[in-house]
Amino acid sequence: MKEFRNKTAVVTGAASGIGRAIAKHCAGEGMNVVISDIEIESLRNTEEEIKATGASVLPVATDVSKLKDIEALAEKTIEKFGSVDLLFNNAGVVLHASTWENTISDWEWVLGVNLWAVIYGIKTFTPIMIKQGTPCHIVNTGSTGGITSNPGISAYNVSKHGVVTLSETLFYDLQAIESKVNVSVLCPGAVDTNLMNSNRNRRNRYTKPEIELTEEEKELKETRDRYLKDGMPPEKVAEEVFNAIRNEKFYILTHPDIKEFVRSRMEDILLERNPSGVDAV
Ligand SMILES: NC(=O)c1ccc[n+]([C@@H]2O[C@H](COP(=O)([O-])OP(=O)(O)OC[C@H]3O[C@@H](n4cnc5c(N)ncnc54)[C@H](O)[C@@H]3O)[C@@H](O)[C@H]2O)c1
Repeated sequence: MKEFRNKTAVVTGAASGIGRAIAKHCAGEGMNVVISDIEIESLRNTEEEIKATGASVLPVATDVSKLKDIEALAEKTIEKFGSVDLLFNNAGVVLHASTWENTISDWEWVLGVNLWAVIYGIKTFTPIMIKQGTPCHIVNTGSTGGITSNPGISAYNVSKHGVVTLSETLFYDLQAIESKVNVSVLCPGAVDTNLMNSNRNRRNRYTKPEIELTEEEKELKETRDRYLKDGMPPEKVAEEVFNAIRNEKFYILTHPDIKEFVRSRMEDILLERNPSGVDAV
């Protein structure tokens, strides 16, 4: 996809961080922007910021872990703008706990927002894009956690590995039908966002975790917190994402230093060596 002006983008998780930066970038490219999020107040702020640029913006309150919300998002997009050309399955949450300490509701929450939502997004929007027959692009937000295995965040890693392989398979399947729909997977390292404060959006149906973090777990979480604060500005991520879309690049690795961690993991697998314990994020 090379032309963006007057086309329509849908961004999930657009109230904060990477999603917000991508939504604003879309507006800067002259696109209509559909912004969706569960955090309504912050979504309104994004809406105001985009409106101020003169772009057309449609905010849609969405819980991405619910299929009917994603279906409604697609319906409202088509009703308002008549097409969907760019889709960013971006909303995400992270949770710190040793693997065996994650409750079932922890798993359901993280997999619901990070993986099922992407499945719903693909299931709902891809047929619309294929039918349009015009150049379209889907960007799924994975993570370094989708190509390495960082300690202390297993639900996150599982969800993001799922997003990466889902995106790769979607890529092959779209190629097989010579579709004009392209796909990329975004795997950033540390980005300065509110991700470490994900619990703010945990809904009641996923009961709150009862466990206290151990001192070691707390330390790991605080280290990650600092790591993200010192991370890349989300606006820079948005720029790289658009370069990738223009150049039809599938893997978007915004942080070159993470390649070392990926290489080391791949070597562990190929050499049948035990995991060498690198912590990318
Ligand atoms: N920040 C990083 O360092 C980093 C690194 C790699 C990948 N990512 C990924 O980037 C994506 C965006 O995260 P971010 O870093 O901008 O964090 P963020 O917390 O700033 O933004 C995430 C957005 O998702 C929304 N969200 C959460 N649950 C939702 C739900 N059920 N329905 C709809 N929206 C929901 C939040 O309200 C928020 O606006 C996530 O998928 C995350 O895993 C972030």
